[in-house]
Amino acid sequence: MTMPVKVRDDMTQRHVVRPGDEPWRPSPAKGVERRMLDRIGAEVARATTIVRYEPGSRFDAHRHDHGEEFLVLEGTFCDEHGEYPAGTYVRNPPGSSHAPFTEQGCTIFVKLRQFDPEDTTRVVIDTAAARFSPGLVPGLSVLPLHQHKGVNTALVRWAPQCQFQPHMHWGGEEILVLEGTFRDEHGAYPTGTWLRSPHLSKHTPYVQEDGCLIYVKVGHLAA
Ligand SMILES: [Fe+2]
Ligand SMILES: [Fe+2]
Repeated sequence: MTMPVKVRDDMTQRHVVRPGDEPWRPSPAKGVERRMLDRIGAEVARATTIVRYEPGSRFDAHRHDHGEEFLVLEGTFCDEHGEYPAGTYVRNPPGSSHAPFTEQGCTIFVKLRQFDPEDTTRVVIDTAAARFSPGLVPGLSVLPLHQHKGVNTALVRWAPQCQFQPHMHWGGEEILVLEGTFRDEHGAYPTGTWLRSPHLSKHTPYVQEDGCLIYVKVGHLAA
Protein backbone atom coordinates (compact mmCIF):
# COMPACT_ATOMS: atom_id res chain seq x y z
CA MET A 1 0.00 0.00 0.00
CA THR A 2 1.44 3.40 -0.94
CA MET A 3 1.93 5.89 1.83
CA PRO A 4 -0.48 8.85 1.54
CA VAL A 5 1.21 12.18 2.27
CA LYS A 6 -1.98 14.14 2.86
CA VAL A 7 -4.87 12.78 4.89
CA ARG A 8 -7.62 15.18 6.05
CA ASP A 9 -5.01 17.95 5.96
CA ASP A 10 -7.47 20.86 5.55
CA MET A 11 -8.03 21.95 9.15
CA THR A 12 -11.00 24.13 8.11
CA GLN A 13 -13.05 21.01 7.30
CA ARG A 14 -15.08 18.85 9.67
CA HIS A 15 -14.17 15.16 9.63
CA VAL A 16 -15.54 12.07 11.32
CA VAL A 17 -13.61 8.78 11.11
CA ARG A 18 -15.44 5.77 12.53
CA PRO A 19 -13.72 2.43 13.28
CA GLY A 20 -13.49 0.63 9.94
CA ASP A 21 -13.41 3.85 7.86
CA GLU A 22 -9.61 3.79 7.67
CA PRO A 23 -7.59 0.65 6.87
CA TRP A 24 -4.67 -0.59 8.95
CA ARG A 25 -1.56 0.24 6.94
CA PRO A 26 1.93 -1.21 7.40
CA SER A 27 4.63 0.91 9.04
CA PRO A 28 8.40 0.67 8.53
CA ALA A 29 8.50 -1.65 11.58
CA LYS A 30 7.42 -5.31 11.40
CA GLY A 31 4.31 -5.99 13.47
CA VAL A 32 3.43 -2.28 13.75
CA GLU A 33 0.40 -1.04 11.80
CA ARG A 34 -1.50 2.24 11.81
CA ARG A 35 -4.76 3.91 10.89
CA MET A 36 -4.19 7.46 9.67
CA LEU A 37 -6.58 10.10 11.02
CA ASP A 38 -4.83 13.20 9.74
CA ARG A 39 -1.44 13.62 8.17
CA ILE A 40 0.72 16.17 6.39
CA GLY A 41 3.97 14.57 5.20
CA ALA A 42 5.33 11.14 4.34
CA GLU A 43 7.26 9.02 6.87
CA VAL A 44 8.21 12.16 8.81
CA ALA A 45 4.87 13.88 9.23
CA ARG A 46 2.67 16.09 11.30
CA ALA A 47 0.23 13.31 11.99
CA THR A 48 -2.59 11.99 14.14
CA THR A 49 -2.70 8.20 14.07
CA ILE A 50 -3.91 5.06 15.81
CA VAL A 51 -0.91 2.71 16.04
CA ARG A 52 -1.18 -1.00 16.84
CA TYR A 53 1.86 -2.97 18.03
CA GLU A 54 1.73 -6.76 17.85
CA PRO A 55 3.00 -8.60 20.96
CA GLY A 56 6.81 -8.60 20.93
CA SER A 57 7.14 -5.82 18.33
CA ARG A 58 9.36 -2.76 18.47
CA PHE A 59 9.92 0.50 16.62
CA ASP A 60 13.31 2.01 15.77
CA ALA A 61 14.80 4.63 18.09
CA HIS A 62 13.66 8.07 16.99
CA ARG A 63 13.76 11.71 18.05
CA HIS A 64 10.64 13.86 18.42
CA ASP A 65 11.64 17.08 16.69
CA HIS A 66 8.28 18.74 17.33
CA GLY A 67 7.03 16.60 20.18
CA GLU A 68 4.92 13.48 20.58
CA GLU A 69 1.69 13.06 22.53
CA PHE A 70 0.00 9.70 23.04
CA LEU A 71 -2.71 7.92 24.97
CA VAL A 72 -2.46 4.15 25.45
CA LEU A 73 -5.81 2.63 24.44
CA GLU A 74 -5.09 -1.09 24.99
CA GLY A 75 -2.23 -3.25 26.21
CA THR A 76 1.06 -1.83 27.52
CA PHE A 77 3.46 0.43 25.60
CA CYS A 78 7.09 0.43 26.76
CA ASP A 79 10.29 2.33 26.06
CA GLU A 80 13.63 2.71 27.85
CA HIS A 81 12.03 5.32 30.17
CA GLY A 82 9.17 3.21 31.46
CA GLU A 83 6.03 1.10 31.02
CA TYR A 84 2.73 2.69 30.08
CA PRO A 85 -0.38 0.54 30.57
CA ALA A 86 -3.78 1.28 28.98
CA GLY A 87 -5.04 4.69 30.12
CA THR A 88 -1.58 6.29 30.35
CA TYR A 89 -1.27 9.75 28.77
CA VAL A 90 2.27 10.79 27.76
CA ARG A 91 3.80 13.96 26.29
CA ASN A 92 7.37 13.66 25.04
CA PRO A 93 8.54 17.22 24.33
CA PRO A 94 10.52 18.50 21.33
CA GLY A 95 14.02 17.03 21.27
CA SER A 96 13.13 13.92 23.30
CA SER A 97 13.82 10.46 21.91
CA HIS A 98 13.08 6.82 22.62
CA ALA A 99 12.94 3.29 21.24
CA PRO A 100 9.42 1.86 21.77
CA PHE A 101 8.61 -1.81 22.29
CA THR A 102 5.89 -3.95 23.80
CA GLU A 103 5.80 -7.47 25.23
CA GLN A 104 2.03 -7.99 25.33
CA GLY A 105 1.08 -5.73 22.40
CA CYS A 106 -0.68 -2.38 22.55
CA THR A 107 -2.74 0.18 20.68
CA ILE A 108 -2.05 3.90 21.09
CA PHE A 109 -3.55 7.19 19.82
CA VAL A 110 -0.62 9.42 18.89
CA LYS A 111 -0.18 13.02 17.74
CA LEU A 112 3.23 13.83 16.26
CA ARG A 113 4.99 17.16 15.54
CA GLN A 114 2.22 19.30 17.01
CA PHE A 115 3.96 20.89 20.05
CA ASP A 116 4.50 24.57 20.57
CA PRO A 117 8.32 24.99 20.61
CA GLU A 118 8.10 26.48 24.13
CA ASP A 119 6.17 23.50 25.49
CA THR A 120 9.09 21.53 26.91
CA THR A 121 7.46 19.66 29.81
CA ARG A 122 7.35 15.87 29.86
CA VAL A 123 3.99 14.62 31.12
CA VAL A 124 2.97 11.11 32.23
CA ILE A 125 -0.53 10.69 33.70
CA ASP A 126 -2.14 7.41 34.76
CA THR A 127 -5.72 8.39 33.84
CA ALA A 128 -7.12 5.11 35.18
CA ALA A 129 -6.01 6.08 38.71
CA ALA A 130 -6.55 9.86 38.47
CA ARG A 131 -9.47 11.68 40.04
CA PHE A 132 -11.95 13.46 37.73
CA SER A 133 -13.50 16.81 38.81
CA PRO A 134 -17.08 17.98 38.28
CA GLY A 135 -17.63 19.54 34.83
CA LEU A 136 -19.82 22.38 33.58
CA VAL A 137 -23.12 20.47 33.73
CA PRO A 138 -24.48 17.71 36.01
CA GLY A 139 -23.25 14.27 34.96
CA LEU A 140 -20.04 15.59 33.39
CA SER A 141 -16.61 15.03 34.95
CA VAL A 142 -13.26 16.20 33.68
CA LEU A 143 -9.62 15.13 34.00
CA PRO A 144 -7.37 17.91 32.65
CA LEU A 145 -4.32 16.44 30.90
CA HIS A 146 -2.49 19.47 29.56
CA GLN A 147 -2.84 23.16 28.77
CA HIS A 148 -0.50 25.51 26.94
CA LYS A 149 -1.17 28.83 25.15
CA GLY A 150 -4.92 28.35 24.76
CA VAL A 151 -4.75 24.67 23.78
CA ASN A 152 -6.49 22.42 26.32
CA THR A 153 -6.52 18.62 26.44
CA ALA A 154 -8.66 16.55 28.81
CA LEU A 155 -10.56 13.35 29.34
CA VAL A 156 -14.27 13.96 29.86
CA ARG A 157 -16.67 11.39 31.31
CA TRP A 158 -20.37 11.66 30.50
CA ALA A 159 -22.85 9.95 32.81
CA PRO A 160 -25.87 8.32 31.10
CA GLN A 161 -28.38 10.88 29.70
CA CYS A 162 -26.03 13.83 30.24
CA GLN A 163 -26.91 16.80 28.04
CA PHE A 164 -24.45 19.64 27.30
CA GLN A 165 -25.19 23.18 26.19
CA PRO A 166 -24.88 24.49 22.61
CA HIS A 167 -21.36 25.89 22.14
CA MET A 168 -18.90 27.14 19.56
CA HIS A 169 -15.31 25.85 19.21
CA TRP A 170 -12.81 28.70 19.28
CA GLY A 171 -9.71 27.11 17.74
CA GLY A 172 -11.58 23.93 16.87
CA GLU A 173 -12.19 20.68 18.73
CA GLU A 174 -10.78 17.17 18.31
CA ILE A 175 -12.37 14.16 20.02
CA LEU A 176 -11.55 10.46 20.29
CA VAL A 177 -14.36 8.37 21.79
CA LEU A 178 -12.79 5.97 24.31
CA GLU A 179 -15.91 4.29 25.77
CA GLY A 180 -19.64 4.39 25.02
CA THR A 181 -21.29 6.55 22.35
CA PHE A 182 -20.88 10.32 22.04
CA ARG A 183 -23.69 12.16 20.20
CA ASP A 184 -24.63 15.55 18.85
CA GLU A 185 -27.20 16.88 16.38
CA HIS A 186 -24.97 15.72 13.48
CA GLY A 187 -24.73 12.06 14.44
CA ALA A 188 -23.76 9.26 16.83
CA TYR A 189 -20.11 8.38 17.40
CA PRO A 190 -19.38 4.93 18.85
CA THR A 191 -16.20 3.90 20.70
CA GLY A 192 -13.14 4.41 18.51
CA THR A 193 -14.63 7.27 16.48
CA TRP A 194 -12.43 10.33 15.88
CA LEU A 195 -13.97 13.75 15.14
CA ARG A 196 -12.25 16.96 14.15
CA SER A 197 -14.43 20.08 14.14
CA PRO A 198 -12.94 23.31 12.78
CA HIS A 199 -12.50 26.78 14.29
CA LEU A 200 -15.91 28.41 14.94
CA SER A 201 -17.88 25.18 14.42
CA LYS A 202 -20.85 24.60 16.74
CA HIS A 203 -22.77 21.69 18.20
CA THR A 204 -24.88 20.51 21.12
CA PRO A 205 -23.51 17.21 22.45
CA TYR A 206 -25.34 14.65 24.60
CA VAL A 207 -25.26 10.96 25.45
CA GLN A 208 -27.92 8.30 25.96
CA GLU A 209 -28.08 5.37 28.38
CA ASP A 210 -24.52 4.14 27.72
CA GLY A 211 -22.77 7.44 28.59
CA CYS A 212 -19.23 7.87 27.27
CA LEU A 213 -15.60 8.71 27.94
CA ILE A 214 -13.85 10.99 25.43
CA TYR A 215 -10.39 12.45 24.86
CA VAL A 216 -10.86 16.07 23.81
CA LYS A 217 -8.45 18.77 22.63
CA VAL A 218 -9.60 22.32 21.92
CA GLY A 219 -7.93 25.50 20.66
CA HIS A 220 -5.30 23.93 18.37
CA LEU A 221 -7.12 24.39 15.04
CA ALA A 222 -7.19 28.19 14.80
CA ALA A 223 -6.87 29.58 11.26
FE1 LIG B 1 7.94 8.26 19.60
FE1 LIG C 1 -17.76 20.60 21.43
